[in-house]
Amino acid sequence: MLIGADYYPEHWPTDRWPTDAKLMREAGIGVVRMAEFAWNRLEPQEGRYDFAWLDAVMKLQAKHGIRVILGTPSATPTAWQVAKWPDLLPVKADGTTFPFGIRKHYCPRHEGYRDACRRMADAMGRRWGRSKQVIGWQIDNEFGGIDFGAPCFCPRCVGQWRAWLRRHYGTLEALNAAWGTAFWAQEYTDWDQIVAPMQPVTSQNPSLHLDWRRFASDGIVEFQQVQVDALRPHVRGQFISTNLMGMFEDLDYEALATPLDVAGWDNYPIWAAEAVDPAMGHAVTRGLKQKSFLVFEQQSGPSGWNAMTGTPRPGQIRMWTWQSIGHGADAVLYFRWRACRFGTEQYWHGILQHDGLPGRRYKEVRQVAREVAKLSKALDGTEVRAPAALWHTYDVNWVIRFQPGCDKMTFWDEAKRFGKAFARRGIAYDVVTPKADLGRYRLLVCPHAVILREDHVEALRKFAQAGGTVVFTSRSGERGWTNIITDLARPGLLGKMTGCRIPEYDMVRQDKPGQIEMADTGRLYDAFGWCDLLETDGAAVVARYAAEFYKGTAAVTVNRVGKGRVYYVGASAEDAFYDDFLARLADEVKLPMLPPLPLNVEVLERRGKAGRFLIVINYTADAQTIDIAVTGKNLLGKGTRGPKIELEPYGVQVVQAR
Ligand code: GLA
Ligand code: ZN
Repeated sequence: MLIGADYYPEHWPTDRWPTDAKLMREAGIGVVRMAEFAWNRLEPQEGRYDFAWLDAVMKLQAKHGIRVILGTPSATPTAWQVAKWPDLLPVKADGTTFPFGIRKHYCPRHEGYRDACRRMADAMGRRWGRSKQVIGWQIDNEFGGIDFGAPCFCPRCVGQWRAWLRRHYGTLEALNAAWGTAFWAQEYTDWDQIVAPMQPVTSQNPSLHLDWRRFASDGIVEFQQVQVDALRPHVRGQFISTNLMGMFEDLDYEALATPLDVAGWDNYPIWAAEAVDPAMGHAVTRGLKQKSFLVFEQQSGPSGWNAMTGTPRPGQIRMWTWQSIGHGADAVLYFRWRACRFGTEQYWHGILQHDGLPGRRYKEVRQVAREVAKLSKALDGTEVRAPAALWHTYDVNWVIRFQPGCDKMTFWDEAKRFGKAFARRGIAYDVVTPKADLGRYRLLVCPHAVILREDHVEALRKFAQAGGTVVFTSRSGERGWTNIITDLARPGLLGKMTGCRIPEYDMVRQDKPGQIEMADTGRLYDAFGWCDLLETDGAAVVARYAAEFYKGTAAVTVNRVGKGRVYYVGASAEDAFYDDFLARLADEVKLPMLPPLPLNVEVLERRGKAGRFLIVINYTADAQTIDIAVTGKNLLGKGTRGPKIELEPYGVQVVQAR
């Protein structure tokens, strides 16, 4: 377990560096991330690399036992690079050029810049790839962080887009068929006729939109790969990673994470009213590699660019940190060490204020770092073992984003409905993509699986066949892989597996909900969103609609498939529905459950050779009393704890279960 900070020595006079290193050490900072925006200092003039200053900082830090994560600086091309390559600046969807100075001002397909990034990564790798002080690498910074994944619409990108389509479809005939260009006279007779979906044209062909999104994502994945390939031969015992953004969905994180050794993300929970938001970000990051991960940046002060959030309440920094660890983070680095006096992020505060004096937040970080250090021996090597997962492809997210279909549908809202229900019973879940090893789970929920490939369907069917439970929610099975709606009876390719048919659907606003009734308990729940009206074709009815002209029509069904079960949930509903439904599912597949927890209290578990460790966090500002169903050693204090546990506002307890 490591506690760390994001540090920008280039923002401070060199005579401050020793003080910083000393203060860091006193606070228990064991690792710093540096250099990810410092291209101008690392290569002040083309071809003249200057690494001496970074060596000097690292040397000071080494004296205090502080280790280092190095960022490659590709998120901020320098002024001299932009002057050299005016066509490096990306073209935005409205046709204007993205300006210098907001970072990410690069076209990811610019050959000259890709080569410069390759040379920089190679030079840095040569210099520090074998350093014992360096534990790993962060490539670039928050890929895709502007303008819906920062696709670039420059002529180079549009040219490559056409080549990409040619590679994927081979012939124009195939593309025309796959996209349905018969609609509105869109049939292409030459590849050069195909445009990129620029604004404000929002209603272009949905298949073109989806392919453009895939193409844009591929560009970033390739851009990252250039640097991974440059670093790989040099690094020894160091990880290569990048800082992702949790529920960010503009890029295909499955593809982006594939060449990385470990996943990591940036966690700013001050915006998250509910524990499920950071929890879902952790579950995404953990699910990408199905193992422990890092938090490259975590809130440690009030934040904002031009306007600020409030400051973290006493105890919040500590609680967020333990929440991250409880969800599987093996390192948590705070953003940032010290608030910067200049630049866009003057208001993005860190552990220290602008004046650099240790204050309340510094003391809280020191307290957490001490606790984490004390428990490291026990927790090192433990991990979160989730028995359940939420399954998706980024294509699902993209399709829903272009065409929500009904009022405000998003993939994540549906995912969070389940996430909250899992948390209420202390059940851990990963968020996974098709590359994941599904064999680890007993329960898979596929929220709004609107677009599917046959091999996805086959993998999910096999999972059920072998005894697992699969849950699909509304709109599932709607489309084939090129974003065309199925001509099979809905739910299309899922018809056989779900044992149901969907002859019709209704759109119901959340503020004017309908109702569903659970068949076995008679309990009623508000239901809304995209409501599929189900007809059974082998499946059994679990719940029925209780309102509207379709009162009595099936709303939730279950089908036996091999040794397992496949559910179809036709509508979205109020939280109580998910609580009851999930209790039923967990019971069927024998997942251990806690007595219901209050909202925004989490009981998280890491396991390993040393046993089971429960990390209990109170995300709320109110005291809470809960039942964790076990007793054990109180690792943050004395004596034993449980099964009843009292939590102060933002309180944390760590219990080693007997
Ligand atoms: C992101 C970036 C950081 C910083 C913070 C605060 O997470 O990775 O460089 O900009 O946001 O804005
Ligand atoms: Zn471009």
